[in-house]
Amino acid sequence: MSNESFTGIHDLSFATTEYVLPHTALAAYNGTEIGKYHIGIGQRSMSVPAADEDIVTLGAAAAAPVIARHGAERIRTVVFATESSIDQAKAAGVYVHSLLGLPSACRVVELKQACYGATAALQFAVGLVRRDPDQQVLVIASDVSKYELDSPGEATQGAAAVAMLVGADPALVRIENPSGLFTADVMDFWRPNYLTTALVDGQESVQAYLQAVASSWKDYGEHGGRALDEFAAFCYHQPFTKMAYKAHHHLLNHAGHETDKTAIENVIGQTVAYNATIGNSYTASVYLALAALLDQADDLTDRPIGFLSYGSGSVAEFFAGTVAPGYREHLRTEANQEAIARRKPVDHARYRELHARSFPADGGEHLTPRETTGPFRLAGLSGHKRIYQAR
Ligand code: HMG
Repeated sequence: MSNESFTGIHDLSFATTEYVLPHTALAAYNGTEIGKYHIGIGQRSMSVPAADEDIVTLGAAAAAPVIARHGAERIRTVVFATESSIDQAKAAGVYVHSLLGLPSACRVVELKQACYGATAALQFAVGLVRRDPDQQVLVIASDVSKYELDSPGEATQGAAAVAMLVGADPALVRIENPSGLFTADVMDFWRPNYLTTALVDGQESVQAYLQAVASSWKDYGEHGGRALDEFAAFCYHQPFTKMAYKAHHHLLNHAGHETDKTAIENVIGQTVAYNATIGNSYTASVYLALAALLDQADDLTDRPIGFLSYGSGSVAEFFAGTVAPGYREHLRTEANQEAIARRKPVDHARYRELHARSFPADGGEHLTPRETTGPFRLAGLSGHKRIYQAR
């Protein structure tokens, strides 16, 4: 493990949607026993975007408090990770750059590899900062997870954005070397360009995820990583929160450790609160797990945290970060809880209407109703151009 220069997450802020659909409403509609959602997959509700919210408005809302706190003078790169892209050419981060008034002397790109994209962005950011410790990189992970209505995946939808400021001498988490890496060409989950909802082989995707956990952990060990019992907690990608428990159970088995329920709860339990109520936010999910952990756990100063990032298709990475001394003074616990509490419940009929919404591809002017009370909104589409507004 090489920790000689501390680089990592200096600030973390997240945003989620205007609306929320409780799983009780979904269960009442489709006749599913609520235990399957609450216990079987570990989900309570899902964030639902308003008609005038998308990955840009969520990403900008997540990043705005970071810029307000630290300024933008040292930000030379913005990496926007998403798999809910709104354009095949222009990076969504360019709209965020504009909405936040970031300096023009800045590179902005979009990154994609399913839910893994934000971890690639974080690692690339760490590399850039190690090359030039004076610069900071703004990493934004923003996604709207959408499956076919009435499909098994429907209950695992959600939406959120996480913004992380990556820099030298970070206030929150110091990212360590090495990483354990794994790539396999599997069709467990994918979304062709002509579809707005993802295709998934649900059971296959769970198995592909578990294989990726074991394989990336193996690679981590082979490159001199920490031992399992050194970690205070594990932040897994959480397409649904039960998946983190399954993944850790699998990891312990694979590593020849006891799979004691209490021991698993001790290292996973404090990572699931935000994802259980937000749903799958794809790229943002593993970093929402980190936010929940830092907000809820007793003092984690100097303790290593394991991160397992999985993106279908598939790529996975296991890496570690140690929690920086004094981190608690930099948390956004109140704002995080408020982002969740402020969502307005929608009824099931309205949720289906919102799910079906899309812009006609006719180049005409299509204004969206004013719904979000967040700081940014998608005002509409005109001449095939998206129009964003700050409130
Ligand atoms: P399903 O097939 O409808 O559900 O959908 P199931 O029959 O497997 O049941 C789920 C669990 O509920 C089971 O527990 C049941 O026993 C339990 P398990 O055996 O797994 O421990 N259950 C109950 N528990 C309590 N009371 C009850 C009850 N009834 C049943 N009454 C599935 C599940 C996950 C397949 C589906 O939701 C799906 O397709 N989701 C989307 C895909 C997904 O999330 N995959 C996860 C791994 S892939 C990944 O993480 C990447 C991803 O984020 C995309 C990306 O990378 O971009 C998806």
